[in-house]
Amino acid sequence: MRVKIAGTGSCLPRLRVTNDDLGTMMDTSDAWIRSRTGIGARHIAVEETTTSMSVAAARQALEEAGMQPEELELIIAATLSPDHVLPPLSCEVQRELGAVNAAAYDLCAACSGFVFALNTAQAYIQSGFYRKILIIGAETLSKLMDWTDRSTCVLFGDGAGAAVITAEETGIFAGVQGSDGAKGEALSCGGRPVEHPFHTKTPETGIQEGYPYVQMNGQEVYKFAVRTVPKCIGQVLEQAQWQPQEISLFLLHQANQRIIEAVAKRLKQPMEKFPVCLEECGNISAASVPVLLDQVNKEGRLQRGDRIVLAGFGAGLTWGAAALTW
Ligand code: ACO
Repeated sequence: MRVKIAGTGSCLPRLRVTNDDLGTMMDTSDAWIRSRTGIGARHIAVEETTTSMSVAAARQALEEAGMQPEELELIIAATLSPDHVLPPLSCEVQRELGAVNAAAYDLCAACSGFVFALNTAQAYIQSGFYRKILIIGAETLSKLMDWTDRSTCVLFGDGAGAAVITAEETGIFAGVQGSDGAKGEALSCGGRPVEHPFHTKTPETGIQEGYPYVQMNGQEVYKFAVRTVPKCIGQVLEQAQWQPQEISLFLLHQANQRIIEAVAKRLKQPMEKFPVCLEECGNISAASVPVLLDQVNKEGRLQRGDRIVLAGFGAGLTWGAAALTW
């Protein structure tokens, strides 16, 4: 038994902020951002929340799947920017949808989160534990940006994507995932510092506690991505016993155009097989892959039986890939 993606959905905030808009606020330019990243704009949540965007994306996915919210058995939300520490985003989505029969929990694997959620869904489907699952990747990264740090705030955006998963007997699913916690400093965001009366010393982790904004060693992350992504795609293709030329679309985490081009080159595949949404959305971490998936689905670029690959990479460090029959 394997995962079938029965429906997809996505939601971006209404406010669109271009590179030129940012150029009026800080010392940056469209030319710098576009040439280094491929990003032209990003959508920033003003009236939207991580929950409201997730619910909008989930409703579209349920509609395409022809499923009522009450039929859902599980909701997994991948996010690093939920609206609240508690309750979990997945439970807030459950409440809004009225998915009263579902268990719900959040998963945090940063930009790899949606692919980790998909692999998790496959494990449940394969074991027979659940058969109807909603997975979500959703972020409001704008609240985790230091808007005086031009080296990070120009890169990220807000949004949500969702997929309804059902069980299918035919077709293939192969998944890999991995982590390297020793390199966590390369991309971090500090938590709330420990301030209770018994506290004596903060352990040395290299992560600046009390600085609740994203910090990144861009060049480290770049090197990690171009080394790891082709490798984990190679691993899922080997598991599936598929060749790269048999894949219709490679849907990669949208961090940087140059990373996507480097992966395409390494796999010796044309760029047409690597759709992008980062020009319009920037990097939306766990939401990147499902927003892109929904985009290609709505454009009619996926036919049942197509072989596709999804791949994510990001903070942790974490990485993951899935190869599946659409
Ligand atoms: N506008 C103008 N100048 C800028 C900006 C900006 N927004 N940001 C930085 N600069 C300046 C720097 O201050 C520096 O100036 P200096 O030489 O006078 O000191 C110069 O540009 C070069 O800065 P670098 O950080 O070395 O720029 P680099 O060429 O490495 O590009 C980038 C940065 C785009 C982040 C690159 O490292 C990269 O592509 N990294 C890959 C990782 C990535 O894309 N991460 C996104 C999130 S991670 C994830 O999702 C997994």
